[in-house]
Amino acid sequence: MKTHTLLMPLDMHLHLRDGVMLENIAPLSAYSFSGAIIMPNLVPPVTTKEDVIAYKERIMAAVPNDYFEPYMTLFYQNYDKDFLVDVAEEITAIKLYPAGITTNSEGGVSSFDIEEMGPTLETMAELGIPLCVHGETDGFVMDREAEFMGIYEELAKSFPNLKIIMEHITTKEAVAMLDKYENLYATITVHHLLITLDDVVGGMMQPHLFCKPIAKRPEDLDALLSVALDAHPKVMFGGDSAPHPQHKKESCGCAAGVFTAPIALQLLCEIFEQFDKLDNLQAFVSDNAQSIYGICPEFKEVVLEKRPFVVPENYAGVVPIYAGETLNWAIESVE
Ligand code: NCD
Ligand code: ZN
Repeated sequence: MKTHTLLMPLDMHLHLRDGVMLENIAPLSAYSFSGAIIMPNLVPPVTTKEDVIAYKERIMAAVPNDYFEPYMTLFYQNYDKDFLVDVAEEITAIKLYPAGITTNSEGGVSSFDIEEMGPTLETMAELGIPLCVHGETDGFVMDREAEFMGIYEELAKSFPNLKIIMEHITTKEAVAMLDKYENLYATITVHHLLITLDDVVGGMMQPHLFCKPIAKRPEDLDALLSVALDAHPKVMFGGDSAPHPQHKKESCGCAAGVFTAPIALQLLCEIFEQFDKLDNLQAFVSDNAQSIYGICPEFKEVVLEKRPFVVPENYAGVVPIYAGETLNWAIESVE
């Protein structure tokens, strides 16, 4: 039977939530990934050193039997230098949300005033703390990411020593930015390598494919595939697996977020194999992230096998992407 081995898979954008959800969900990522960048959009968000340390402890307590490194982040605010120096060793990045643009982002940035943000961003650059950005304006939903490109350009030019990660990119415009500025990088989800808006609302509406940023046009999908499949050195896998309880998805007013973590590697194998690019998957799911972030995860070997695998209908009350459908790849072993 055909197998494919991945070493130290990393998920560079992951929502683990808190409480019972954290306890149920975290083990699923800890099983197949060596580590993940943990999003700080809890209620209230992670904004202090104490918050970071306590949240990391809760994550570690939820995954007692697996080796898994939670790379912690802070929720972006204009922080002063003393605070950043003090918190630096506890975090891997800081995540910036425009205010109100997505789930639990109300306390985010409401104006991108470069002068106001300058001291925080300069200090982050000095300390080598990357800035992860949810890059969407509050414009028309299909144009929000493309409209944000001006802000990325201003940030990239104003802070040339700051590593800026364009999170979960979904457009050809964002792909084009990668080669324009040395300090811009990107994460790409697995679902944005599979679906367009057509899959979300073109037939019966699919709440489990609804997320921010919304999936875009076929030409955007092609642009994302081109850099992911070639494992462009500035892109890395960041699943943006965003669990919501079933009743919050299958309801009037569907929460944004696609839950992918337990089947992300299986789906990635399927996509990369389909385009005859399996050899590039290792760079996309781990090596590029290690170089970009300068991290060195402990050894983990995940062997995937090409055989039918039926996606569970739900994981502890959270419905995954492709629930009940059959995938072509399964996880065979993890060591
Ligand atoms: C995320 C969530 O649910 O926290 N939702 C989503 O649609 N991706 C937030 C985010 O990353 O935008
Ligand atoms: Zn996210």
